[in-house]
Formats: sequence, structure tokens, C-alpha cells
Amino acid sequence: LSKIGVLTSGGDAPGMNAAVRAVVRKCVYENIKVTGIIKGYQGLVNGDFLPLNAGSVSGILKDGGTMLKSARCPEFRTPEGRATAYENFKKQKLDGLVVIGGDGTFTGANIFGREYNIPIIGVPGTIDNDLFGTDLTIGYDTALNTVVDAVDKIRDTATAHSRLFFIEVMGRDAGFIALNAGVASGAEVVLLPEKKTSYDDLKRFLEKQYSYSKDSSIVLVAEGKKMGNTFEIAQRVNEEHPEYDARVTILGHLQRGGSPTVADRVLASELGVAAVEALIDDQKSIMVGMVDGEIVHVPFNQALKNKKGINERLFNLINVLSGGKK
Ligand code: F6P
Repeated sequence: LSKIGVLTSGGDAPGMNAAVRAVVRKCVYENIKVTGIIKGYQGLVNGDFLPLNAGSVSGILKDGGTMLKSARCPEFRTPEGRATAYENFKKQKLDGLVVIGGDGTFTGANIFGREYNIPIIGVPGTIDNDLFGTDLTIGYDTALNTVVDAVDKIRDTATAHSRLFFIEVMGRDAGFIALNAGVASGAEVVLLPEKKTSYDDLKRFLEKQYSYSKDSSIVLVAEGKKMGNTFEIAQRVNEEHPEYDARVTILGHLQRGGSPTVADRVLASELGVAAVEALIDDQKSIMVGMVDGEIVHVPFNQALKNKKGINERLFNLINVLSGGKK
């Protein structure tokens, strides 16, 4: 192994920089040349490369975003786009790739790696935590902390005005952010894609809350929930219960930014190094992950095909902890 490329792709996540730094520093340590690829697969298609050395990644460990920039690249989904990408890969004399991202990134890596027999290792970087085969993804812990901080602040004003708040969080088709942030911020109800909560269930939960003297509540809503548009749900609740005085806050992209937490920095550092080690060991088409504190190698096919389930115990806690009786 004499030269590899590293890229970040898909939605950025806090800790991606820490992972890039770990990949680069491990390469320097092992005497392997490393080049950054700008804007994910787009840079591979366009031939946009940035040679990296130990100094190029100084000071980025603590930064959100990604110094390599990120994108979702439609061209890479076409055989022609990937053929151009492969030409650039060869021109750069690369022997392998480390791709940092989520399921879209790994889908592309899986196809490209098999098509051209290229060793590619995936590092799970997404705030959604929706990758099977790793307990946690890089960026998830930071996003959780950001969400909990925001919900705490909204709680202050919700309580002051005796209001009900619907707070929508990211997570795409998964409810991990909503569930864990819900427990950590004392949300009275969570609406998740994984759970069939009907509008009537929601109404019953809320009526129960208000029946034992609560006059303010937080409903944490995963963007992928099945119940429909968050504003419409709030409007319907307001029509039926004007006394709840419901409001909506969509947290949006602020959940993707910020300096990574200690947990994300450590995870990113470990997985970045593990990815280079996997390339040295002639691995290909796998994701490196962390399960019970141990590094694992998960074939892309498995990581992509299987769905990580939510923690039922945590879900059941929400109701118990909201202060009511059975
Ligand atoms: O995958 C990360 C994520 O932030 C999801 O939670 C969200 O659904 C999506 O990306 C938003 O994508 P974009 O930034 O392209 O609008």
C-alpha cells in the first residue's frame, strides 16, 4: 500500500474532521502517501485532489464540518460517472480509499469497489446513527447534545408560557436522535418512524399529561415519523385543545454543526486509524465500526441491508418518566 485517498460524503457530521485527521496521521505513521478528495465522490469525478501531510490536518480535530467538504453526487450514481472517477483514481496512482459518510456513501463505495476491484473502507459518519453494525456513528453524540441543549432552552419558555411544543429533529428514516434526546431532555412524548403512534394515541397521551396538572409539555418529533407534517399535527391539536397553546420548532441544520464532543472525537480517532489498518490488511468493501468497545469489520452489504432497531427499553421509559401513573 503506497498511496490512498480519503473523502467525506453525504450530510456532514461533527467529528468528520477528527476522522480525516486520524486517517492522515496514521498514513504518515505508516509511511503511506495520502491525498484528500474534495467534495466526496464529486472530487473523484472532477479530479479535485488535495495532497495531505501531518501538518495539513493540524487544528481540525475540534472543528465541525469537514475540511474536505462534502456533497451528494448524482454523477457517481451513473456507470459513466464512475468510469471517470476510476480514471482519476488511476491517474493519482491510488491503491485504496477511505470514505467517511452514511448509507448513501457506502452504497456508492460498494458499487464502485466491486466494479473496479478497488479496496474501499467505510467510516460511519452521520448524525442519524442509522448504520447497522456499529453501536454509534460519528456525529451522533454531538447532535444529541446540541438537541438537548436546544430543548432545554425551549423548555424554559414553554414552561413560562404554559405551552405545548412540538420540536422536530433530524434523523431521516430513523428515530435515534428523537428517542435519546427525548429521554435526556425529559420529553413527555416522542414520535418515531419506528413506532406506529396514531393521532388519537398522541391526543390520549397529552390529555393524560394535562389531567394530572401539567400545563406544558414537549413532544419530540423525528422528521421521519409516519404521522404527517409537524405543523399540521400541531394545528389539529390547537383546534381541539386551544388551551394547550401549541407551538412548533424545527431544529434543522443546527443539529449538524458544532465542535464534536469528546465521545465523537475519540470514536472518530479510533475508526480513522482502524480504516487505514483495514486497508493495510487487504480488506475491501467493509465498514469499520465499534461494538461494545471493540473494532468490528462489517461488509458493506450487511451494513446496508440490515436495519438497526431502536432501544425498546428506552422507548418505554418515556412514558414512565413523564410523571403519570400506569
Ligand atoms: O443524514 C443526515 C441528515 O442531516 C438527515 O438527518 C437529514 O434528513 C438529511 O441529512 C438532510 O439532508 P440535506 O442537508 O441534504 O438537506
